[in-house]
Amino acid sequence: MTIRPIVIKGNPVLHRRADEVTVFDQDLRELVADMFETMDKAPGVGLAAPQIGVGKRIFTYTYTEDDGTHRRGVVINPVLELGPISEEEPDIEEEAEGCLSFPGYRFPLKRAEVATVTGVDLEQNPIKIEASGWFARIFQHEFDHLNGFLYIDKLRSEWLDDVEEITKDEGWGVDGKSWLPGQDNLEG
Ligand code: NI
Repeated sequence: MTIRPIVIKGNPVLHRRADEVTVFDQDLRELVADMFETMDKAPGVGLAAPQIGVGKRIFTYTYTEDDGTHRRGVVINPVLELGPISEEEPDIEEEAEGCLSFPGYRFPLKRAEVATVTGVDLEQNPIKIEASGWFARIFQHEFDHLNGFLYIDKLRSEWLDDVEEITKDEGWGVDGKSWLPGQDNLEG
């Protein structure tokens, strides 16, 4: 297993729709193993394949719910069904999200409180997971990555100047920027 560099906003693979997985082979197993290792090292609660430069419809997640239930897995070719998304202002602390591809910053965003993800695992067995709260948020965030969107693309307009300024100051928003978990001192 290998920890892979995480690409940053501006790398084209993050900003296009990822491709369906059609071949379930040893290479795919190794890719997913690397995704788990990279996610854990970052550390993050989720990682989408485009974030390590691979434009495929795969994400991993690892999250402990408030009741102690540990959730960890991979979803390949996911489909997401969402509950309603509130039109209210997001809570600046409780609903602040971060992303390993825009590392070190957090911005608030409303998400659906409930989400159901379906897809397959590495053996092509069907998966169906019903999530709520922060766990549902993780699925929405990772699923967006597979459609070429970062959470910062979805923020209310009041935050967009900040995002632009950070992007400029950090030298992001161009192709070729990445960081290596365990080596570079960045957190998402
Ligand atoms: Ni992200």
